[in-house]
Amino acid sequence: MRKRLALFGSGRGSNGEAIYKAIKAEHIEGEIVLIISDRANVGIVEKGCAWHIPVHVVDPTHYGNGEAWTQAMLDILQEYEVDGILLAGYMRILLPTFVQAYRGKILNIHPSLLPAFKGMQAQKQALLKGVKYTGCTVHFVDEGMDIGPIIAQAVVPVYEDDTVDTLSKRILHEEHRIYPEAVRLFCNDALEIVGSRVVIRE
Ligand code: GAR
Repeated sequence: MRKRLALFGSGRGSNGEAIYKAIKAEHIEGEIVLIISDRANVGIVEKGCAWHIPVHVVDPTHYGNGEAWTQAMLDILQEYEVDGILLAGYMRILLPTFVQAYRGKILNIHPSLLPAFKGMQAQKQALLKGVKYTGCTVHFVDEGMDIGPIIAQAVVPVYEDDTVDTLSKRILHEEHRIYPEAVRLFCNDALEIVGSRVVIRE
């Protein structure tokens, strides 16, 4: 059965678009049944409207506390009978209550080779550290930030004349390749979490 997926984003939405296109091309046995964003005027919201997918803007600052915000999102997800959640440029940390409700069903993409360079501006952190290689990681989300069992990674070189912009573009190209592939595996029930590892069974 096709998995019912919720796409979470805060910005441009290029990873969401890569997944959407892979679904349209029938590479993924799933469908995006709703989009949740914490911001109204961003690319992912516009894209969702253009794709005729329901979009819910759930801004945590409109809720008195994190638990009320979390409950609002859980209510929406339950209404749509969601099987999996794809964080694609979603710049909020989900509370433990949320993670516990969908453990093993939340995927995230991060623009570094985790566990290096967690948090904001991972590409800038890589340039400042002077690493020769960096990349991107798709992982299951647990209670920590940019942490959790790793599903897929891709490596890109860092060149001497790189700027945050040139490096980000090189990484993004790989993000658009590995995230749809990880979602395909998830939708095929091919990912098994064994301790802190993900075993791919296909
Ligand atoms: C992507 O580079 C993604 O890896 C990053 O935000 C960008 C979103 O782009 N996510 C994080 O840094 C999460 N910690 P997009 O909106 O075009 O997909």
